[in-house]
Amino acid sequence: MSNKMGIRGYDYVEFYVGSAKMAVYWHAKAMGFDIKGYSGPETGVRDRVSFYLEQDQIRFVITSAISPNAYDVSSFVTNHGDGAKRWAYSMDDVEAAFNEAVSNGAVPLKNPQRREDENGFIMEAAIRVYDDCEIVFINYDNYNGIFKPGFSAPVQKIEIKREETGLRAVDHIVGNVRPNEMNYWADYYIKSMDFEQFIEFGPGDISTKYSSLLSKVVRTKDNLIKHPINEPYKGIKKSQIQEYLEVSNGSGIQHIAVACDDIISSISALRKNGVEFLAVPDTYYEMLKAKNIKITQDIEALRKLGILCDVEDLAGKGYLLQLFTKPIGDRPSFFFEIIQRCQGSEGFGHGNFMSLFEAIERDQKIRGNL
Ligand code: FE2
Repeated sequence: MSNKMGIRGYDYVEFYVGSAKMAVYWHAKAMGFDIKGYSGPETGVRDRVSFYLEQDQIRFVITSAISPNAYDVSSFVTNHGDGAKRWAYSMDDVEAAFNEAVSNGAVPLKNPQRREDENGFIMEAAIRVYDDCEIVFINYDNYNGIFKPGFSAPVQKIEIKREETGLRAVDHIVGNVRPNEMNYWADYYIKSMDFEQFIEFGPGDISTKYSSLLSKVVRTKDNLIKHPINEPYKGIKKSQIQEYLEVSNGSGIQHIAVACDDIISSISALRKNGVEFLAVPDTYYEMLKAKNIKITQDIEALRKLGILCDVEDLAGKGYLLQLFTKPIGDRPSFFFEIIQRCQGSEGFGHGNFMSLFEAIERDQKIRGNL
């Protein structure tokens, strides 16, 4: 199956941070990424440094400004804090996809461009998404260098001792938007890139005693790319989405879910490496046992590691196991989700939202933001 836009899959995600070198160390040591490429003064780039990281099919770039000339980086970090600036789709034909997207309403940010070095050339273009983020269309068919022109092998080799975490691929990328913006952005994907709406959660569907949100999931028609979009909804107290909007000064990327094949060993390795996760109460597992569900994993092993299990699959098949890290930066905004889809599950863990949000609200309260 393919999609009309010629999207082959997620390509890289680029983060803008205050100090790339230190953020890269955490991603390597704690999350299990390998540092494969570098761009900076040593490679002829004067205003910023970028590190290119890989783990199986996951490709991350972490960039920081080293001069006021990298204003796009420093202004992003000043306004929103460390976070994801752009993600890329690998495309059959960048120019055709860009023209199609823009003629159907996408906001053009970078026209299709050919960038080359001695290793060949890449094609890339970008459209806008949310307040200050980008979706990049990229094609590397004629390039065999490290990541992109301007990158070389890492200039510094660091020995990192860690547990291997078994993270495999990006599963979905989630946006948080302001009240009344969710439908706008859902339509943006649908109209400009031929996505379809998969699920919608209205008022009351996702709420705790205190706070509430609305959520829509859009995806490519071949289910290759999935983007949930959340907006806050009124409740007695402040929605976690509202907290995100306030601490990030606007809409943006809330979390990236990364898939693995054995979540028990992945979470156990990530915990040993020092990654912090949201905690669910033991009563969650009592409830899970009482549901008498058929899963291959041992519920006791899930309980020990705090892994959540959602059997209320929306497409009526399979189940998923998931866990959310605490926000990885200084502001309570961006975090990672670790997910294992079992027996063809297509959901996003909405059956877990209540326990999850209660866990988030406990932390929100400690921050004085509830
Ligand atoms: Fe998610």
